[in-house]
Order: sequence, then C-alpha cells, then structure tokens
Amino acid sequence: MTSTVAVLNQKGGVGKTTVTLGLASAAWAAGLRTLVVDLDAQANATWALGVDPSTKNLGTGDAIHANRSGAAKEMIVPSGWGEEIWILPGAGDLTEREADTRRDTSVGRLAKSLEGVASEFDVVLIDCAPSLGLNTSNGLAAADGALLVVEPTIFGVRGVEPVLDLIEEVWSSDNRKLDLAGVVLNRVPAVSSDAQSRIVDLNKMVGTQSVWKPTIPQRVVVNQAHGERAPIHAFGSQGRELADIFDAHLRKLRRTVTS
Ligand SMILES: Nc1ncnc2c1ncn2[C@@H]1O[C@H](COP(=O)(O)OP(=O)(O)OP(=O)(O)O)[C@@H](O)[C@H]1O
Ligand SMILES: [Mg+2]
Repeated sequence: MTSTVAVLNQKGGVGKTTVTLGLASAAWAAGLRTLVVDLDAQANATWALGVDPSTKNLGTGDAIHANRSGAAKEMIVPSGWGEEIWILPGAGDLTEREADTRRDTSVGRLAKSLEGVASEFDVVLIDCAPSLGLNTSNGLAAADGALLVVEPTIFGVRGVEPVLDLIEEVWSSDNRKLDLAGVVLNRVPAVSSDAQSRIVDLNKMVGTQSVWKPTIPQRVVVNQAHGERAPIHAFGSQGRELADIFDAHLRKLRRTVTS
C-alpha cells in the first residue's frame, strides 16, 4: 500500500517543505521506503535531502514533459538520508516548462510518469511550489491526498479557500481518488488569542476532523535540520518534540491516504 500526498499552499514560506521533510524524516526513522517529488524550482527539498539541484540533472520537469508511463523510474535518485529515501529532484526547467504548457494536455502527466514507480514506495510526498499553477495541478492529479500547510494568521486562513477550490477542480476534472487529507497548522504560538481565533475559523471552514493534531510550533531545530541536510529524527532529544509530532502526522497519513 502506498500513501501519496501533495503538500501544498499558494502562500509562500508557510512550511510546505518543512512538513514534507518532517514526514520524510518520520518515514526515515520508521524504515519506510519513501519518494519525495520536488515540484518546486527552488528545489529546497532536493537540497535538504542531500542532492545538489542542477538544471543538468533530470527531474520533475522532465518527468512531466516526458508524457510517458513510468518515465520517472529513470529520473529518481537516492537521497543523502540513506537507501530508503529517494527523490525526484526539483529540476528540469520546472517553471519555464509550466509556462509553455496548456492545462488540457499537461495535467495528469506527472501521474503518468509515476505509474509503476510510486507503487514501489510506502510513502510518496509531493512538495508543491507556492502556486496554484499547472505544476501544482499535476501534483494533485498524481496524489490520493492533498495536505494543506497553513499558518494561524488572518492572511493564512484567507488563503485556504482558493486552495480548496483547486482541489475540487482537479478532483472533478482529473483525479476522482483525490481527497483533502487534512490541514497542518504550522508555527502555532504557545499563547496567542489571535492565533486561537484563526484556528477556530479554520475548523469552521474545513471541519474539525480535517485539522491535524498536534499542531506544529516554531522551533530552531527546523532550520538546523535543513541547514545540516539531515532528518529531524537524527537530532536526538533536541528534535524529539517535533519528531513525535511528525510521527503522529505520518501515522495519520498512512491511515487515511492509501491506494
Ligand atoms: N515550525 C517551524 N519552526 C521554525 N522554522 C520554521 C518552521 N516552519 C518553517 N520554518 C522555516 O521557515 C522558512 C520557510 O519554510 P519552508 O521552506 O518549509 O516553507 P515553504 O512553504 O516550503 O516555502 P516556499 O513557499 O518558498 O516553498 C524556512 O526557513 C523554514 O526553516
Ligand atoms: Mg517549499
């Protein structure tokens, strides 16, 4: 059984890559075979997984462009985290090619290139760019679940509706298996009445069941792990709090998103 999830939000810097890497770290600690698909030309996930992004490498842009069943097989590479964690690098002129394509001929190509490839993994994590463009639609078309990462701020919550609309659009046009896996709240302050009101708003918008618990606090170990290109689970007691949170999120993902 494979759990394939697209981690997304149109808003930049909210923690999509951090959540992708946190789930990958939990999968690493659990010994699960995992593929991270980097759909962002910034290629931060690729870099943090120990693979140097280069436009010369084959990557997600090529996998989309290939338009061939199983094409990603020749493009995935092992990460620097060990043999269970693989990556389809954020390379292959992702942005330029996105601008050159039409929706009707493009969306569905990533799913096609992952045919017979995703099924070899226990977990597939698709890290989307901060955009609701065609690359993100491709990510959603290739996933069984959509995982939104949101900060508990007024702008953060205002930004949720267009993302839900896109999930609905891809569900109705391209991928009937797609479901809202959940909403992960990131950078939640310990004490803030404003943040608590925003969380109440969010619960009303998507339903309490869809907001994953526990929420993620702001912690310095996140940047440390990214900087050292290492899993948070490798940081011992310093990373324990976040490691426990991502373990819980991975369990939820594996329970609710399967194909
Ligand atoms: N819970 C957290 N605690 C501390 N720092 C965090 C946390 N979440 C994210 N950050 C930091 O915030 C910055 C943005 O996070 P990240 O890159 O994960 O966001 P993103 O949504 O993927 O961004 P983009 O839209 O550019 O892809 C990074 O420097 C990251 O280390
Ligand atoms: Mg990112």
